[in-house]
Amino acid sequence: MKRVDDFRLRLGKQELVPIMVGGMGVDISTAELALEVARLGGIGHISDAMVPTVSDRRFNTKYVKNKLRQYKFNVANSEKAVVKFDLGLLAEATALHVGRTMEAKRGGGMIFANCMEKLTMNDPRETLRVRLKAALDAGIDGVTLAAGLHLGSFALIEDHPRFRDVKLGIIVSSLRALQLFLKKSARTNRLPDYVVIEGPLAGGHLGFGMDWAQYDLATIVAEIREWMKAEQIDIPLIPAGGIFTGTDAVAFLEHGAAAVQVATRFTVSKECGLPDDIKQHYFTANEEDIEVNGISPTGYPMRMLKSSPAIGDGIRPNCEAYGYLLDAKGNCQYIDAYNREVALHPDAKKVRVWDKTCLCTQMRNFELWTCGHYTYRLKDTSRQDASGKYELLTAEHIFQDYRFSVDHRIALPAAPPA
Ligand SMILES: Cc1cc2nc3c(=O)[nH]c(=O)nc-3n(C[C@H](O)[C@H](O)[C@H](O)COP(=O)(O)O)c2cc1C
Repeated sequence: MKRVDDFRLRLGKQELVPIMVGGMGVDISTAELALEVARLGGIGHISDAMVPTVSDRRFNTKYVKNKLRQYKFNVANSEKAVVKFDLGLLAEATALHVGRTMEAKRGGGMIFANCMEKLTMNDPRETLRVRLKAALDAGIDGVTLAAGLHLGSFALIEDHPRFRDVKLGIIVSSLRALQLFLKKSARTNRLPDYVVIEGPLAGGHLGFGMDWAQYDLATIVAEIREWMKAEQIDIPLIPAGGIFTGTDAVAFLEHGAAAVQVATRFTVSKECGLPDDIKQHYFTANEEDIEVNGISPTGYPMRMLKSSPAIGDGIRPNCEAYGYLLDAKGNCQYIDAYNREVALHPDAKKVRVWDKTCLCTQMRNFELWTCGHYTYRLKDTSRQDASGKYELLTAEHIFQDYRFSVDHRIALPAAPPA
């Protein structure tokens, strides 16, 4: 019976354990988690979502406080178009987050950055260019282009000296999205080094509509694999979404996948950035406690725990401090929803907003508990103590369980001494 460890992912000259831990913003896939995965020979991701606030938390910088001070005059204004990112400071924060992580890297694995196009930041093109360039400058091993079609992203960095040697990948949820990306990037004369195929059971934003349940990861992977074979294109394929055991992973690897991307099981690791008390909500969730809804102002459906405090919360938009989802014209769907509720309830001290959420603030404060479909199985991966609390796992334990387990078995942490 095969194990994940019987396979290897080859990226250029490097050979890796074919387990990639996906990016989880905002700072849920921490540097500590990515570093552990790299130490063990796999690929870890940090996320470049809201890097200034992540840097403030990690390095005690003051990016958010200073931005809020600069735009304080606009806090009560419903128009947010004036709130811009300082590109120099954005580059500086990215350099800190990525650079310090790469300096700490040990072992034979790699660390990539998950870079979401939907963070439009009131100037989509330039802010994305700066984020990508700064990550490359700071020595990131690779960049996974996520949450968007990224039709122009390769072109943004084609002049960078590392453009041809850094590993670049794209996340797609359909053959059509991959075809579009390859067509639009063809001019740069560079193929992606890997393609993550994310199915409908993943956490975070989904690349499907609300009819996500009608799609199936294995079918999409097979379709893409067949098309690539017919076109004689050879790019490592990395399925993601709902791969919960080593055996699930082996099934994909035996059918030609180069590696798998996983995330949900690591949300209850010690190294994961979610606060420990929130990890307990992930452990105790049942299937009916999880939903895919439309409250993300990105317009993409998102999976989360129904008990997330963000749902129905009506905080004032906080774009002066954050503002990552402001589009090219300085709009965000949450601002419209919030203003509508304020106009409908002029005397209310606090309004409730049910159809959209202030994603930046809620993710920053860990009040929106995005999760994968199989979060309800996390309770089978650990032990409860006498008080009913689940024991957090080390990232190493989870990684090695994926790597060596057979027969859908899940290794529990060692029992405490009697
Ligand atoms: C808590 C959480 C946050 C996530 N955030 C992101 C993100 O910021 N960007 C992204 O591309 N994918 C995100 N994802 C998706 C994962 O990177 C990964 O592709 C997917 O969840 C894998 O499926 P699994 O969770 O069933 O293992 C997130 C997943 C989870 C569970």
